[in-house]
Amino acid sequence: MAAASKPRILVVDDEPGLRDMLAIMFKREGLDVTLAPGFATGRDAILHSPEPYAVVLTDLLMPDGNGLDLLTLVKQRTVQTEVIMMTAHGALETAVDAMKRGAYDFVSKPFATTELRALVQKALEKRAIVAENEQLRAKLGREQGREVVFRSEAMRKIFDLTQSISRARTTVLITGESGTGKERIARAIHEASDRRGKPFLVVNCGAIPEALIEAELFGHERGAFTGAVSSRLGLFREAEGGTVLLDEVGELAPATQVKLLRVLQERKVRSVGAAAEVPIDVRVLAATNRNVEDEVRAGRFRQDLYYRLNVIRVEVPPLRSRRDDIRPLAEHFLKQSAGEQGKDIRALSPDALRTLEGYDFPGNVRELENVLERAVALAKGMTIGLGDLPGELAGAAAQATPDLVLLPDAGCNLDEVLGEVERRLLLQALERSGGVRTHAAKILGVTLRSLRYRLHKHALGDAGDDPDSDPPSEQT
Ligand SMILES: Nc1ncnc2c1ncn2[C@@H]1O[C@H](COP(=O)(O)OP(=O)(O)OP(=O)(O)O)[C@@H](O)[C@H]1O
Ligand SMILES: [Mg+2]
Repeated sequence: MAAASKPRILVVDDEPGLRDMLAIMFKREGLDVTLAPGFATGRDAILHSPEPYAVVLTDLLMPDGNGLDLLTLVKQRTVQTEVIMMTAHGALETAVDAMKRGAYDFVSKPFATTELRALVQKALEKRAIVAENEQLRAKLGREQGREVVFRSEAMRKIFDLTQSISRARTTVLITGESGTGKERIARAIHEASDRRGKPFLVVNCGAIPEALIEAELFGHERGAFTGAVSSRLGLFREAEGGTVLLDEVGELAPATQVKLLRVLQERKVRSVGAAAEVPIDVRVLAATNRNVEDEVRAGRFRQDLYYRLNVIRVEVPPLRSRRDDIRPLAEHFLKQSAGEQGKDIRALSPDALRTLEGYDFPGNVRELENVLERAVALAKGMTIGLGDLPGELAGAAAQATPDLVLLPDAGCNLDEVLGEVERRLLLQALERSGGVRTHAAKILGVTLRSLRYRLHKHALGDAGDDPDSDPPSEQT
């Protein structure tokens, strides 16, 4: 890192002798000193300085103005500049007034230089601590932004996998519906590897026109094509030592697929218009929300490239089939949005939480994130209530129950209705448990045998499933 620049101090006083003495003293202390002979010049220095002063030391009464007004001006520009007032002996009341308006401290004239020196030093230290705190907070925020939040068994398995494969250089194909967190997981793989600290670059293959994608990925020489006025490294070389995520890889045109396959095999790139290839050290991750197998079968995605990318496969399940994650994610996004919007909101009401947990989230985690951002903006108190959630969520929740528990005017067939309730709950339990029956039975509070019987009754069991035989070992 470059050597830190000297802290800047502005000294405002109409006495030339005092100004010169202070200038010599502070320069010796290693400060960058600016002198102003009165209120107006002091004001101009504050207003026109490219970056705020660390400390402003100002006289209180000057022929052309008052130090208190300078104080106000400084604090309007930034609260981070510390102001020290020099007051005439006995003007204690004004000094107290200055402190109330945000001055760091004051000295009474005449003062001992050691006293002033110590005061300025302390003001600088305070400023450094505040700045460091802010950096730490920003860093923490960024790190939290990379966290993978989960509670479900399904996501725990995926997370463990990302950690165990992070050291290898193998390609990973991440699939899942839009908004399930594919990019987030790709970043987690990068961060867990010794490539962390090196670039993690994402290219959205679907968003770049076919004619440009090759240059974007592999770079181009100057003059390689019309408009190539300068040369470009390309994403793969920019990410040297790090990781590249090819997002929406299913959108790549066939010609680009061939070139990509070569790069993956040879670990070399040739930029557009260049004669020679350059070796690269980059880990490639790919993501798509298309069904790649279907794309391969339909001939839109090259099988050889598919095999190359699919060395390790991570399938991120939709949020509705891992509802255990909804609560920790909602709490995470609540904290995040409350922090960003500067609101003191700490919790979700029980009915709001229940509604979220019952909703299907077609837009997955991204939708949940948006719902909470909006709810935090709307919330009046310290809790997010049902009314702060979008209508369609609350509506979906309200609909689910009355259908089943309100006796229709025309009456009903009790057995049929109970059967339907049972069928729906069984399906939901299976989905939530990822098909693991022991887990599904637990969720429903029934024995495994009872669950098997009921699945069989509703024709939800596998073919040949015999409800009376003892369960073989459970498989996921
Ligand atoms: N497990 C998680 N923990 C915390 N935040 C998450 C998690 N999963 C997703 N997110 C957040 O949800 C949003 C969507 O995630 P991401 O962009 O990774 O999804 P995606 O699967 O790549 O979506 P798309 O297919 O639309 O590109 C992001 O803001 C991301 O930070
Ligand atoms: Mg994505």
